Amino acid sequence: MTVHFIGAGPGAPDLITVRGRDLVARCPVCLYAGSLVPPEILAYGPSEARRVDTSALSLDDIMAEMTAAHEAGLDVARLHSGDLSIWSAMGEQIRRLEGLGIPYTVTPGVPAFAAAAAALGRELTLPGLGQSLVLTRTNGRASPMPDRETLAGFAATGATLAIHLSIHALDSVVAELLPHYGPTCPVALVFRASWPDERLLRGTLADIVERWQAEPMDRTALILVGWTLTAESFRDSALYDAEYRRRFRGD
Ligand SMILES: C[S@@+](CC[C@H](N)C(=O)[O-])C[C@H]1O[C@@H](n2cnc3c(N)ncnc32)[C@H](O)[C@@H]1O
Repeated sequence: MTVHFIGAGPGAPDLITVRGRDLVARCPVCLYAGSLVPPEILAYGPSEARRVDTSALSLDDIMAEMTAAHEAGLDVARLHSGDLSIWSAMGEQIRRLEGLGIPYTVTPGVPAFAAAAAALGRELTLPGLGQSLVLTRTNGRASPMPDRETLAGFAATGATLAIHLSIHALDSVVAELLPHYGPTCPVALVFRASWPDERLLRGTLADIVERWQAEPMDRTALILVGWTLTAESFRDSALYDAEYRRRFRGD
């Protein structure tokens, strides 16, 4: 018996990996975070599977489900939205599983920031312009940020930012970033990337709050900030440069 943690992807049911879908298809128990995992992904599983929405459960309740499946010898598909390496709460479940001696695997998924970049049709790293992407968030009621991980600190590097779990605090995010990036810096709000009701809102640090107030989005949204969002005048990458290929690739 094994608990399979599976990144379900950003929303579109065909953005789960083939490996993830195959695991869902053969697990008799499926635990899923109901708010962000689409029902079509659950339908990849056996019709008789035990399906439990964990959004209203405590960690103890979730572990009780996993322990019961372990005792019954039933594999578990544990679905979380996006990828498991960021804001999935997988860490605390793995810690408990290791304590209990229950085996697990981890299958990555497409993270929301990648789906948001795809929706915008943008590459978030461009030669000479932006080579770093910071995945971050702002303080939450239940999750204070570590002291040194401030938006201002990240902004001081000029890196492109993908700010999660923070759409409700858009005005304070903008206020903190303005001194570093300036009013003309591009911003994109991507709401429910890859879902049927996906929405995009583009603007700058100067006007994005006003645009958002005119068309409010709920909390499943990403705030992307940085010059790579709109830049057209960046140099070509060395990857496909003919001179570079001749000198360094031998092809
Ligand atoms: C708890 S985190 C989960 C992140 C997820 N593990 C990932 O890999 O992207 C939830 C936050 O991710 C962002 N998010 C998740 N799905 C999204 C989507 N489809 N479109 C835009 N933002 C999304 C939002 O900022 C949301 O508040």
